[in-house]
Amino acid sequence: MSKAAGSEMKVILPGSTIGILGGGQLGRMMANAGSAMGYRFVALDPTPDAPCGQVAQQIVAAYDNRDAAKELAARADVITYEFENVDAGVAAMLMEQSYVPQGSELLYTTQHRLREKRAIEAAGVKVAPYAEVRSADELREAVGRFGLPCVLKTAMGGYDGKGQWVIRSESEIDEAFETLKRAGTELVVEQFIRFQKELSVIAARSPQGEIRTFPAAENIHVDNILHLSIVPARIDEELQREAERLAARIAEGLGAVGLIAVELFLTEDGELFVNELAPRPHNSGHYTMEACRTSQFEQHVRAVCGLPLGDTALLTPVVMVNVLGEHVEPLLGRMARQDESAERLGVAPKIHLYGKHEAKHKRKMGHVNVLADSVEQALEWVSETNIWRV
Ligand SMILES: Nc1ncnc2c1ncn2[C@@H]1O[C@H](COP(=O)(O)OP(=O)(O)O)[C@@H](O)[C@H]1O
Ligand SMILES: [Mg+2]
Repeated sequence: MSKAAGSEMKVILPGSTIGILGGGQLGRMMANAGSAMGYRFVALDPTPDAPCGQVAQQIVAAYDNRDAAKELAARADVITYEFENVDAGVAAMLMEQSYVPQGSELLYTTQHRLREKRAIEAAGVKVAPYAEVRSADELREAVGRFGLPCVLKTAMGGYDGKGQWVIRSESEIDEAFETLKRAGTELVVEQFIRFQKELSVIAARSPQGEIRTFPAAENIHVDNILHLSIVPARIDEELQREAERLAARIAEGLGAVGLIAVELFLTEDGELFVNELAPRPHNSGHYTMEACRTSQFEQHVRAVCGLPLGDTALLTPVVMVNVLGEHVEPLLGRMARQDESAERLGVAPKIHLYGKHEAKHKRKMGHVNVLADSVEQALEWVSETNIWRV
């Protein structure tokens, strides 16, 4: 369907303009990192004054507006994206009219859970046992094989736990199937993994084939939304390295260009299964902004511009905590005062806010990277603030 990623290789130097499809917080942080290096940015996003539009130029139009995409192509020397649900027609058009080193194959693969799982398996990495289900009877049969609970998911369009149903008893099967079927995509059922931890690794691959991985993050979700990323992950070092190796294998196997985030389950038996992928900067990689020698955003810019990748070494233990709509007010209240808890614990909370206008409940508004001598001290700061009562 498309030119393979990396079939064309260019070095894009500072002074050039990077076009981003999407103007949310990921685009904003990409533009901040790339601007520091001397690149210019233009984002396409329908929301006026979007998070990225505040720090870059913005074309205000729908993502699937072909004329706007054409304008983006005309204004940019290279194009990237900050979300995976890029319209296939727009992706093809941009590849015609501009330079899109990431190609569209990885997008096509990761837009669909079944295609994604098959690609991960083809790269020689394990995913949780799964089955495509086309009817309630097929779902019943799969549940019989996997046992309960099971997780039914829409193949496309899900995020932050949306488009999922944890089936805990046989009596839910028909309702779960009928409800999720309404999304109008294929459905996939997965065995429920009794994980001891959720981890993620962000890998970067350049068009030249260089691969680097960031240290594994230990992720804690609340209501299916990422709450904390803890780095180093509290697992033994050999497992940390194994998680990085799996991510590198996936980046290689899928021919990724740019970042690819790999979400993993670590089972009680010490086995690693891939949960899902994201072909872009990831919330669980925000810790890299101050805690690594190179941030995920700089790394992404380097990769799509064909520069050598940066060193990913961890500089300090860190805990990233997400700031949702309900956390903004108490956080701003603290910011104006001396932070005695931070001083006593010897931690440095680095606050990032995305410039979103409405602090809606559960909406991602920012994050704090708590740099510390140990992750325990950083976690203690998070708990002492009383902002994140969970
Ligand atoms: N098969 C599974 N077994 C156990 N927990 C799961 C499974 N699938 C998803 N979850 C839980 O639900 C969360 C969200 O699922 P995920 O597939 O990552 O969807 P998304 O992040 O797109 O909403 C996961 O981070 C994990 O906590
Ligand atoms: Mg996920």
